[in-house]
Amino acid sequence: MKFFIDTASLKDIQEAQDLGILDGVTTNPSLMAKEGISGKNNIMRHYKAICDIVDGDVSAEVIATTFKEMITEGEELAEIDEQIVVKIPMIKDGIKAIKYFSERGIKTNCTLVFSAGQALLAAKAGATYVSPFVGRLDDISSDGMILIEDIRTIYDNYGFETQILAASVRHPLHILQCAKIGSDVMTGPLSAIMALLNHPLTDSGLAKFLADHAKANAK
Ligand code: G3P
Repeated sequence: MKFFIDTASLKDIQEAQDLGILDGVTTNPSLMAKEGISGKNNIMRHYKAICDIVDGDVSAEVIATTFKEMITEGEELAEIDEQIVVKIPMIKDGIKAIKYFSERGIKTNCTLVFSAGQALLAAKAGATYVSPFVGRLDDISSDGMILIEDIRTIYDNYGFETQILAASVRHPLHILQCAKIGSDVMTGPLSAIMALLNHPLTDSGLAKFLADHAKANAK
C-alpha cells in the first residue's frame, strides 16, 4: 500500500520523506489555507516546492466548479510538474473533466467521494485515483471502511485500474484497516503515520537491552 501524506506543510512532508516511506502527497484548499498559502502565484510555487521534496504523485485541487474552468485550471496545475495529479471534486462537471484529462494522459484524483456509486462513476470516467473520505464518514456514524471494502469489490469485479486512495485517514487503525482491505493508497497526517511506530513493549524492551548492556560493560 502506498503512503501519501495529507498536508501542505513542507516541514511535515520533509519529515515523512526523510523517514523513507513516502510515496506521494495530497493537499486540498483547506490544507493550503492552514499553511497560509494564498494567491495564485504563491499556490503554484508551493506545489512546485512540494514536488521538489517528494518523488511521487502530488495532488493539487482545482477551485473551479464548471467544466471549462476546471480544464483551464487543471491544465495550468499539470504544467507545474509531471508529478502533479489534478484533484477534481465529485460533481457532474468534475466527471466530465476527469474524462477529458484521462483521454489526454493527465492524472486525476476524484475527491469528496462518499458512496460506492460515486466511486464507480469516477472509475468509468478514467480517474487515476478515487478519494473516499473515511474519517468524515466515521464522523457521521457511518463506517468509512465499509465504503473502502465496497469500492475494492466493485473495482476488482471489473478490473478498473483506478486506484483507491483512502482519504480523511485520521489515526493508525484507519491505516491498518485500509491495508487489510487492500486499499491501493492511504493518505493521512504525519501524526497517523508516526503513530504506527509506537508500542510500549518496544520501548521497555529497548530500555532493558540498553540497561543490560550498560551493566555488563561497566568498569
Ligand atoms: O484528503 C482529504 C482530507 O484532507 C480530509 O481530511 O481530516 O479534513 O476529513 P479531514
